[in-house]
Amino acid sequence: MTTSQNRHIAIVGAGLVGMGWAIVFARAGCEVCVYDASPELLAGLPDKLAGSLADLHEFGLIDAPEPIAARIRIATSLAEAVRNASYVQESILERVNVKQALYRELDGLIDDDAIVGSSSSGIPSSEFTEGLSIAPRCLVAHPVNPPYLMPVVELVPAEWTHPEVLDRAHALMTQVGQHPIRVSREVQGFILNRLQGVLLREAWALYDEGYCSLADIDTTISKGLGMRWSFMGPFETIDLNAPGGIADYAHRLGGLYRDIAAERTDFASWSDALIQRAEYERRAALPLENLGERSKWRDRRLMALAAHQNEQET
Ligand SMILES: NC(=O)c1ccc[n+]([C@@H]2O[C@H](COP(=O)([O-])OP(=O)(O)OC[C@H]3O[C@@H](n4cnc5c(N)ncnc54)[C@H](O)[C@@H]3O)[C@@H](O)[C@H]2O)c1
Repeated sequence: MTTSQNRHIAIVGAGLVGMGWAIVFARAGCEVCVYDASPELLAGLPDKLAGSLADLHEFGLIDAPEPIAARIRIATSLAEAVRNASYVQESILERVNVKQALYRELDGLIDDDAIVGSSSSGIPSSEFTEGLSIAPRCLVAHPVNPPYLMPVVELVPAEWTHPEVLDRAHALMTQVGQHPIRVSREVQGFILNRLQGVLLREAWALYDEGYCSLADIDTTISKGLGMRWSFMGPFETIDLNAPGGIADYAHRLGGLYRDIAAERTDFASWSDALIQRAEYERRAALPLENLGERSKWRDRRLMALAAHQNEQET
């Protein structure tokens, strides 16, 4: 691993996602150097890390937290963070001009063979790496939040990303315990958010048309579809849901799904009025001041699920 050559992982941007990445790499034994433009955020980082590591330890997902925390160093400048780094995980604000400015700085700062993965949720890396000398060594490495509990990472190359860079990123992610998937070329929203987008589009539509409350739609996923989805995807699901497998399922129910899809060609409502109705229903169920507490509850449920999955055979 890179540590044997005295090289490390740099995390640039240490908000929700960057902090999570620091745990991923340090948990796997890498030396990690973290930089964020906000000194206040960096000052509070050790306490936040300690809290998450203590929870992970409580659920049996890591051994002692202290050695992991000790592998995470805080840098006071971008140059310090990326010095000697073999891999940089960029996790700054999702704004194209902010990312462009950072990548211009990284050009010339990072080592000659270092690669940069962006946590970008939807902006393809070609929009902020074009024309830079480091462009062939940049790609998107999109995680799910928090990355130390949700292991999938979408690796998305730009047209100029060197194929060997994709291979190296894939190997590194596997080595640190993530589950990388390869996306062959750039597409808006990549894979995960395109899938989530389709589900949300239908959920908004059913809610808008008064078929169901928000809570009942959420229950349909949490007590229905989502239970399988935590360990298998939609294709394996339908393969197992007909005696003759996926082709049999498609033969039996393909017409239904085609008709449903045909009904929704023009529904794209994320309208203010609809969002306001949803907000009213959600805030009645969960007041805004309890959002943080509920997020911690979600993370602990995810930890319990991860602990359970670790005990299962694949
Ligand atoms: N939150 C999620 O669920 C999620 C999931 C997957 C991917 N992402 C992506 O990860 C990235 C970070 O998102 P987040 O949710 O952690 O945001 P965040 O707002 O929590 O953190 C962003 C951090 O970047 C820092 N920053 C901004 N400009 C900087 C610069 N030039 N140099 C160094 N630091 C800088 C900010 O100070 C802030 O701490 C975004 O691209 C986002 O789309 C987010």
